[in-house]
Amino acid sequence: MCGIVGYIGREAAAPILLDGLQRLEYRGYDSAGIAVHSEQNGLQIVKTKGRLQALVDIVSTGKPLTGTMGIGHTRWATHGEPSDENSHPHVSEDGRIAVVHNGIIENYIQIKEFLQGKGVQFRSQTDTEVIAHLLEYYYDGDILQAVASVLHIIEGSYALGIICAEESSRLIAARKDSPLILGYSEKGSFLASDVTAIIRHTRDVSYMEDGEIAVLDENGIRVFNTMLESVEKEHSFVDWEVSAAEKGGYEHFMFKEIMEQPEAIRKTAFSRIVDGRIVFEGLHLNEEFIQSLKKIHIIACGSSYHVGMVGKCNLERLLRIPVEVSLASEFRYAEPILDQDDLVIVISQSGETLDTMAAMREASRLGARTLAIVNVVGSSIAKQAHDVLYTWAGPEIAVATTKAYSTQLVLLNMLGIYFADVRGSLAPAEYDRLIRELLELPAKMEQLLEKNGDIQYYASRYFNHESVFFIGRNLDYALSLEGSLKLKEISYIHSEAYAAGELKHGTISLIVPGTLVVAVGTYGKLFDKAMSNVIEVKARGADVLALTTEDRAPEMAKYVDAVLTVPSADDLFLPNLGVVPLQLFAYYVALHRGCDIDKPRNLAKSVTVE
Ligand code: M6R
Repeated sequence: MCGIVGYIGREAAAPILLDGLQRLEYRGYDSAGIAVHSEQNGLQIVKTKGRLQALVDIVSTGKPLTGTMGIGHTRWATHGEPSDENSHPHVSEDGRIAVVHNGIIENYIQIKEFLQGKGVQFRSQTDTEVIAHLLEYYYDGDILQAVASVLHIIEGSYALGIICAEESSRLIAARKDSPLILGYSEKGSFLASDVTAIIRHTRDVSYMEDGEIAVLDENGIRVFNTMLESVEKEHSFVDWEVSAAEKGGYEHFMFKEIMEQPEAIRKTAFSRIVDGRIVFEGLHLNEEFIQSLKKIHIIACGSSYHVGMVGKCNLERLLRIPVEVSLASEFRYAEPILDQDDLVIVISQSGETLDTMAAMREASRLGARTLAIVNVVGSSIAKQAHDVLYTWAGPEIAVATTKAYSTQLVLLNMLGIYFADVRGSLAPAEYDRLIRELLELPAKMEQLLEKNGDIQYYASRYFNHESVFFIGRNLDYALSLEGSLKLKEISYIHSEAYAAGELKHGTISLIVPGTLVVAVGTYGKLFDKAMSNVIEVKARGADVLALTTEDRAPEMAKYVDAVLTVPSADDLFLPNLGVVPLQLFAYYVALHRGCDIDKPRNLAKSVTVE
């Protein structure tokens, strides 16, 4: 979703802002803009609909943007279509104050009516514009004071970057429910929606909390609460390399991240295995709670929800207690029934997905204990959960998640094994066997990644289909959901995943000669049942691409048109292997179709609106 970058210091602001925005492109956007201030030229604003390159072209061909203080923004439209007028920064009527905003101002209509009543003319359809005009309304020579006044009026979510032409030595930031990071450097002070935008300049950062206002100047940053009382910030050191957020010779981030999966799993899992035992450092859940656990709820969105679907199968098998999986956007409005003995596991790569965060808060309000599985360190969900386990996948830039999905799966399985051990539902020999399997997993994934030639071939054979069905049972159904989402989000092919046994209750009417069906049959216990469903769709003329384990491939090959294989493994880890060919299939199909793989249309990496 929208991205913010801000800078005040000793260097020219425009190149820093444009570079930062380029590094935020992956979040998804439809327009971009910057505001730079200099004593000679005052506040200079350039903004445009479309790709960042359009903004860069305007900046490089227009009058040079001078000044060492500025704010930049990539917008993902919510209120008002993508257009030049609706792009940020938004400026007060008198042209003195510029604002960039992520989030949604929920009471903007009332504020707009109030301001219109005072004669203010609006130029855009956005909710954000009210902030610029309100700031002008309250501005009395002190922009910090004006911001504090405005924050008492606006409702909703916001990350804000604000500059004022009359106060060229400070840039103001504020946050509520939308991430903002402060960066400290010799060159000056930085502001960004995420670390990738500023890591080339500094690794010394702090994470703004809800209700905080920051004042950045060229020598440092001061932070206040909404009453303008000073707040001490803890600094964090970003320990990943700049190259982790660069393509490193690969054509796409998605492909690079697919290839990084074995290493990401080693980092996430192996460092938590000490002398053959799983150790979760810093986990506050005590043994008594784990032993008395009655139910687990898993809450997430998108691919993280699909991890939860796999998790349900695996955790129920290991723990023999009910596991309920909910879409975060549904959970919070479903009047959930939770108990103090329940554990709520929320899963989120970004740690900023608003629906997931709201669902987690609701669960916590209802008295449940929350544990978050998150990739982005210092993110809102990580901070607000009772417990957090980080996936150490490194920065994931492609909108389509791959290595975050894989590491989430592994971490959830490890949690299951750990809980099962504490609860005594896993025999010691079985525990040791599963740990051995886990340790073998990255090498098996590497084998799979090496032989992707078949997948490229099948992608070239099937890329022009316009509708695809993924079918599977149990674990394979959960995996089908992810395979189908990967394909549709980056290739724009209509794709649906079905529990294979459910087909004949309606969907089979859509299977006609030539329909592409991806039949996922890796789960040994239900292989025969899956085969019956394959035979049903073959009988209606479907073109079937199957995915199964190497040992079952000969049997599968008798009935289908093409077979992809994965090495055999314990059921627990099969989806980790099975997802790799499905990710690669989606990738190569999208490549054949000439799609913008890393930045699929309409999608955002971090979904910070409801
Ligand atoms: O950051 P999160 O894991 O909370 O994001 C949830 C979904 O938006 C995300 O998994 C989305 O479905 C992916 N882009 C799919 O590849």
